[in-house]
Amino acid sequence: MIIAIDGPAAAGKGTLARRIAAALSLPYLDTGLLYRAVGRLVLDAGEDPADAQAATRAARTITETDLSRRDLRDPDADRAASQVASIPSVRQALLDYQRHYGNKNGAVLDGRDIGTIVFPNAHVKLFITASLPARAARRHAELLQRGETISLDAVLADMSARDEADRNRIAAPLRPAFDATEIDTTDIDADTAFEKALALIKEKSQPGAAAATVTDALATRLSVRDFLPDPIPGATLRRVLEKAARSPSGGNLQPWHVVVLTGAPLASLVEKVTARQAELPKGEAAEYPVYPNPITEPYAARRFKIGEDMYALLNITREDRESRRAWFQNNFRFFGAPVGLFCFVDRQMGAAQFSDLGMFLQSLMLLLREEGLDSCAQEAWSMFAPTIYAALNTPPNLMLFCGLAIGKRNPDAPVNTLVSDRAPLDDFAKFEGFSS
Ligand SMILES: Cc1cc2nc3c(=O)[nH]c(=O)nc-3n(C[C@H](O)[C@H](O)[C@H](O)COP(=O)(O)O)c2cc1C
Repeated sequence: MIIAIDGPAAAGKGTLARRIAAALSLPYLDTGLLYRAVGRLVLDAGEDPADAQAATRAARTITETDLSRRDLRDPDADRAASQVASIPSVRQALLDYQRHYGNKNGAVLDGRDIGTIVFPNAHVKLFITASLPARAARRHAELLQRGETISLDAVLADMSARDEADRNRIAAPLRPAFDATEIDTTDIDADTAFEKALALIKEKSQPGAAAATVTDALATRLSVRDFLPDPIPGATLRRVLEKAARSPSGGNLQPWHVVVLTGAPLASLVEKVTARQAELPKGEAAEYPVYPNPITEPYAARRFKIGEDMYALLNITREDRESRRAWFQNNFRFFGAPVGLFCFVDRQMGAAQFSDLGMFLQSLMLLLREEGLDSCAQEAWSMFAPTIYAALNTPPNLMLFCGLAIGKRNPDAPVNTLVSDRAPLDDFAKFEGFSS
């Protein structure tokens, strides 16, 4: 289980995170220490923390031992930490560290961007906050206890500047994830915050548990590539498909057609495609281009990264083409899902109606989450469309768009912990005329 805890300085997130980790016997990572440790390593080497190359080199060598040094909270490490934290390549190197740490055995992680960037699909996301005066008073008391002499006003001014910098930082700014639960600790003590957090964790912590809101469904949907064999009742699938048909479509054409298979018909289809794949490993004639060819940036890099991240979780190297090929073939058994759905469109339809199919499929995937079920959309099946048409007696006017694997996720499969990145909002959206 991954528990992501974010929030500004002195809101109480560290104390809370430590208590949660102890209560649940999970490893705990204070991710702020990573930046401090990188800053410290750069200073030790006599280099400048603003030097991106030096800082990135240091970030790539960080180990758990570096995090237990006693001098990470010294003022010079503090300053160096803010400098290295604003370097994107340092954040990338530490992102890998954090994901690896969390994915090993689950973890509680606290920081500024855990729920938004590091683990956007964390099981539980908390955003711990408190008013600026309350946080400044806490930090001031802490400093006095350590024997430092500093005025409350100075602490408040410093904290306010730090908040501002954190919120406006280009790389991973501080903000609650859209699906985070906020706990304001201004007027509550640490015990109450802990109880609130535990109650929420209990409610949300089952991987694959049914989603109660659209936001939950969106946040917990991911492409699942390892399923439990548990059968899914036909009535459930009829129910979700009926609801998904409320999806909008241009001119209300409702251009979607589906075939849903389980049991013997599914096994027979898989067998036929597997046999065909043995003859034609590269697939039959393509009905539509799955990706543009050539594909430009930033799309090429995104596609590359999700593939590399997935194979890293599977421990399959780039050179091991044979294992990659063998893994890819799992597509053609619906990744072991007990249900396989094929989505078709009438051949007279064009690009606009493909978007209608997308809306229908997304509704379906979210509704499946509401039922505690998971899915993986699969364009891979289009490689064997002719064999599928023959096996399913598909009318000639229909063209296969994709398959959808449906079932319950295997919570123990590393591949199901794959985190797919998303571009930040401002990379794809432009707002004009708003005052807030
Ligand atoms: C229409 C469609 C087709 C897809 N085809 C495949 C596929 O053939 N095999 C596969 O493993 N993943 C497939 N995916 C999954 C994408 O790789 C995945 O949605 C993307 O990397 C984002 O990850 P997420 O779904 O976990 O958020 C497909 C997704 C969509 C929407």
